[in-house]
Amino acid sequence: MALLDLRWHLRGWRSQSRWAGTRAAIADWLAQAPEGHNDLLLFGASAGWMMDDAFLARFRRIDAIDFESASAPLFKFNHRRVIARHRIEVRFHDAEALSRLEEFLSMRPQALVLFDNLLGQYTLTCPNVAQAEATLSGLPARLAGRPWGSVHDAISGPGRALALAQEPAAMALHAGQPWPEESLLDAVGASGQWRDHLTRTVLPVSAQSRLLPWQLAPGYWHWLQAGWVRG
Ligand SMILES: C[S@@+](CC[C@H](N)C(=O)[O-])C[C@H]1O[C@@H](n2cnc3c(N)ncnc32)[C@H](O)[C@@H]1O
Repeated sequence: MALLDLRWHLRGWRSQSRWAGTRAAIADWLAQAPEGHNDLLLFGASAGWMMDDAFLARFRRIDAIDFESASAPLFKFNHRRVIARHRIEVRFHDAEALSRLEEFLSMRPQALVLFDNLLGQYTLTCPNVAQAEATLSGLPARLAGRPWGSVHDAISGPGRALALAQEPAAMALHAGQPWPEESLLDAVGASGQWRDHLTRTVLPVSAQSRLLPWQLAPGYWHWLQAGWVRG
């Protein structure tokens, strides 16, 4: 597919201090991943701007799937120390993730599966809303029997520009609990039009998850949902 998204990489590079809280919250969630896997299937690796080295260090081989062409060299550069220290074999695949999911699952049958902030973008690549919703809600069935996790955009939109120390805390979303819609919006001083990324059926209702605030740009917020399904 060979897309190039320099704007995203520039933002990732420049935003490291503003994203520190979200990175730490993601690292905390990654630390809860199912254990005992030497292999990782990492969908939406990008350059790993939000990825934690301690999590990568668990694996001997990582197959990263991303159709953006600068992802492979930048990921290998950003995480070069942990890759070298732990002699991790990293292979990148330039592919559309969801149409080729079964191919990757059968290629690495023992791998832990992680969708790393990819699924919330699916409505951008699949403009047919009904089809996007059906594909996203059909994922748990396609992954049945495999341990997997996803961190993905749930909602996004404008709000107050907040310093790192003022950012709201992550919130737990217990199995079957209704979404704390108002609390999420209030916590970031939401205003204007917000977007729903249609990801609320990605994780099974029985899954415990966390809602993580991410100030993508000053005064522009995403609430991410992160959860593991233990297979
Ligand atoms: C928000 S970025 C991921 C951030 C990344 N996990 C990080 O730590 O920097 C989303 C990535 O998913 C990729 N992506 C989005 N939809 C995809 C799809 N359907 N198939 C393959 N890659 C996709 C994009 O190219 C982009 O690199």
